[in-house]
Amino acid sequence: MMISLSKCRLRSFRFGDEISLQGHADNISVWMNLRNSFPHPFTVNDAISWISLNRNNPKPCNLAITVNDDVIGGIGISQQTDIYQLNAEIGYWLGEPYWNKGIMTEVVMAMVDYTFANFNVIRIYAGVFDHNIASMRVLEKAGFHREAIHRKAIYKYGEILDEHLYAILKPGADKTL
Ligand SMILES: CC(C)(COP(=O)(O)OP(=O)(O)OC[C@H]1O[C@@H](n2cnc3c(N)ncnc32)[C@H](O)[C@@H]1OP(=O)(O)O)[C@@H](O)C(=O)NCCC(=O)NCCS
Repeated sequence: MMISLSKCRLRSFRFGDEISLQGHADNISVWMNLRNSFPHPFTVNDAISWISLNRNNPKPCNLAITVNDDVIGGIGISQQTDIYQLNAEIGYWLGEPYWNKGIMTEVVMAMVDYTFANFNVIRIYAGVFDHNIASMRVLEKAGFHREAIHRKAIYKYGEILDEHLYAILKPGADKTL
């Protein structure tokens, strides 16, 4: 699958992406804003594992962000379970040389449309660390609303941080079942 946007493309991960993926993902400025499950350092073996997990899926949850077919970042959703099954968490990152060019705003908007069109999801949410103003701006520009601040919810790299919870609802969400 492929989604063409004005500044980049979204597509499935595939073998051949290892070097560009590792090159952009192996950055402490990226990792500082993400969960510790995102490896740091991010090795070529981490890239191979990620690509192996996410390739060949006809309806992928994790997409590569590409420019000239090089991976410059990633975006994904994780559909929740049990009573939260109609919710998906969204997560994303971009290689530092590409920050502040409007790329993630158009990527998040496209991922929201893709999710509502292809998954049984009526609410997409994201948790943002309290220093990450750029990510909050991205979500606001993409139509998300700040619903809550979870005080002192995050422990990252020796610091305790608030988490800002943003969400967007599918239009007509209460009528979709
Ligand atoms: C957060 C991140 C995804 C943003 O992507 P991006 O492509 O640079 O975002 P955009 O260019 O679409 O928008 C960034 C916005 O934040 C603003 N911004 C950036 N740094 C800012 C700061 N320190 N203070 C205030 N605004 C800031 C930009 O001006 C822009 O807003 P504008 O269009 O109103 O001017 C990217 O920086 C990143 O990958 N960071 C590391 C990983 C991460 O934080 N992931 C998200 C976890 S919730």
